[in-house]
Amino acid sequence: MTRLLVIEASPRFEHSTSRTLTAQFVEKWTRLHPNASVLTRDLTRSNLQFVDLPWIGAAFTPPETHSPEVAAALTTSDILIEELKSADHIVIGTPMYNFSIPALLKAYIDQIVRVGVTVSTTYEGMLKGKQATVILTTGGDFSPGAPFASANVASSYLRQILGFVGITDVNIVLAVKTLTVDQGETTLADFASRFDAELSAAAA
Ligand SMILES: Cc1cc2nc3c(=O)[nH]c(=O)nc-3n(C[C@H](O)[C@H](O)[C@H](O)COP(=O)(O)O)c2cc1C
Repeated sequence: MTRLLVIEASPRFEHSTSRTLTAQFVEKWTRLHPNASVLTRDLTRSNLQFVDLPWIGAAFTPPETHSPEVAAALTTSDILIEELKSADHIVIGTPMYNFSIPALLKAYIDQIVRVGVTVSTTYEGMLKGKQATVILTTGGDFSPGAPFASANVASSYLRQILGFVGITDVNIVLAVKTLTVDQGETTLADFASRFDAELSAAAA
């Protein structure tokens, strides 16, 4: 069965621009794939840990040598990787934080990039044949040609790391100037409606 994995990273819930646009995308995607399943991985509710010494010790040693205690360090990583493997399309809804991605999303990435599991020992991505949509919302203006466009590290990093694990079919929906919502110049609904066509195309 076709499956969409929805990864959410904003802690602003009902006020969140990235969650609003992601919900719009999911609605369109499910309409186009009526028999598919949707799995949501909300990073703000996942109690994600940073990579630590037991994790590194387990991830860089052969699984057949692991005691149950050593293997336990990879439990979360194994679950997150299984979710990714089971998905045909992955949508990541995230704000830009300090020109890059929120630490929670980086913690997630550190959990799912594993040599021998998602990247081969010769650095070939092992999650092939998947599609990804990144919905990135930014307070400022990083649209093509804008003075700070090149400061958008988030887009290039996400494309790079998804490609590293084999996901090269990546569509980035960049929703800039969300400050206009926060400052009351426009409503969240009006702002979101501007991305209707782009989100429809991404879901198709
Ligand atoms: C900690 C933090 C850092 C941010 N850094 C940036 C930034 O570097 N550039 C930018 O344009 N907006 C920045 N913003 C604004 C968010 O990217 C923007 O409000 C975004 O729409 C938030 O997404 P959300 O509504 O889904 O949470 C930052 C916001 C926060 C809370």
